[in-house]
Amino acid sequence: MSEATSEQPQNPYDTWAAMRRDQPVVQEQADAPYAVARYEDVMTILRDNETFSSDVSLRSEEEKKIRPSMLFSDPPVHNRLRKLVSYAFKPRFVESQRKLIEARSEELVVEMCQKRELDLVAALAAPLPVTVIAHMLGVVGGDMTQFKYWSDKIFSNIGEILFAQPDAEVQKAQLEMDTYFLERIAELRKQPEDNLLSRLVETETEDGKLTDNEVLSFCGLLLIAGNETTTSLITGSVRVFNEMPETFEQLKVDPSLIPTFVEETLRFYSPFSATIRRTTTQTTLSGIDIPKGALVLPLIASANRDESVFDNADQFIIDRKPNAHIALGFGIHNCLGAHLARLEGQIAVASLTKHLKSICYAEGEETVPGQLGGPGKLMVNIEPAWDLPASE
Ligand code: HEM
Repeated sequence: MSEATSEQPQNPYDTWAAMRRDQPVVQEQADAPYAVARYEDVMTILRDNETFSSDVSLRSEEEKKIRPSMLFSDPPVHNRLRKLVSYAFKPRFVESQRKLIEARSEELVVEMCQKRELDLVAALAAPLPVTVIAHMLGVVGGDMTQFKYWSDKIFSNIGEILFAQPDAEVQKAQLEMDTYFLERIAELRKQPEDNLLSRLVETETEDGKLTDNEVLSFCGLLLIAGNETTTSLITGSVRVFNEMPETFEQLKVDPSLIPTFVEETLRFYSPFSATIRRTTTQTTLSGIDIPKGALVLPLIASANRDESVFDNADQFIIDRKPNAHIALGFGIHNCLGAHLARLEGQIAVASLTKHLKSICYAEGEETVPGQLGGPGKLMVNIEPAWDLPASE
């Protein structure tokens, strides 16, 4: 495990532990969001969508109306959007993707075994979720590279997209992606295919059909919500292997521990470390007054280490049960892709523990744990479980 140097930013887990103890609700400076560290307060926020609105973006009302985002809207708009897409994320439909995910994961890990030192993000953690979402949206072949580029551009600039003006390159990526999907939507309206995008275009409930703009907005949301987070779950699992190599051995001996390992990784290194809300009225959390209209940051990753909820909260317990973590959210916006995220995480861990004898960091991580999204690069040393001449 790499040692912290003075150049590395402070591990946020230390900061959050101090906040939970001494200052559970903090506004660092005027106009900054109120950061909320304790599990109980975070749950209060996620439960109460009337006081804590998800409609946080500074886009114009007109823009929001034309292209509403499920994640950043409140009822009734949220209900309508979620209802129209949620059937595709039900366990039965997600389970039907298992073979595809397993095949892709096996292919990527076997390919990894050609090397002894490699970037885990490029080799597995990024391509696996991108392939799954691309497949759901019917993006195939050469379009995949383009799709990954748009996805990276949009995710890494989400702050500017919501709260400011993204730069020209990001706007171009957004426009290109919109144009691509608008063409696909038009094709699918004429000739349906067997994928999620086609079903999104077709589905009709008593709330009507999704408009082209609503379908586009959902495609964008899947990129933001489903790609980097799953990448981060996979790199988080490998961070655990690096810090606690005995967990890797335990999973090799007893793969039935994989589901609880993944749950504990979600709790221990929560990929979606914080979300955001805006107060609709003056309110109080842990005795601190928060005015109407303020931004609030429920620190999910901190809540998941709250000592008052989890026994030995700072210990990684491979078979922890119960495990009431909220890494996949809570309340009306709870993660729509939760089954899929778990399945992808479990399959990636199964492939790694099946094909590798060992895996550890080759150098320090470029990001600290707890940041939104995972590292962009993670160099690891691996030893395959089977004999194969190394190509490098
Ligand atoms: C380990 C991976 C993942 C984590 C940790 C994660 C976490 C979360 C969290 C915490 C939320 C709630 C945000 C809030 O309340 O503001 C959320 C919402 C959401 N997630 Fe995930 N997610 C993951 C993977 C996925 C995947 C794979 C998909 C889809 C392919 C997905 C789709 C969504 C959507 C659409 C929402 C918005 C739901 C709504 O607003 O009603 N997520 N996710």
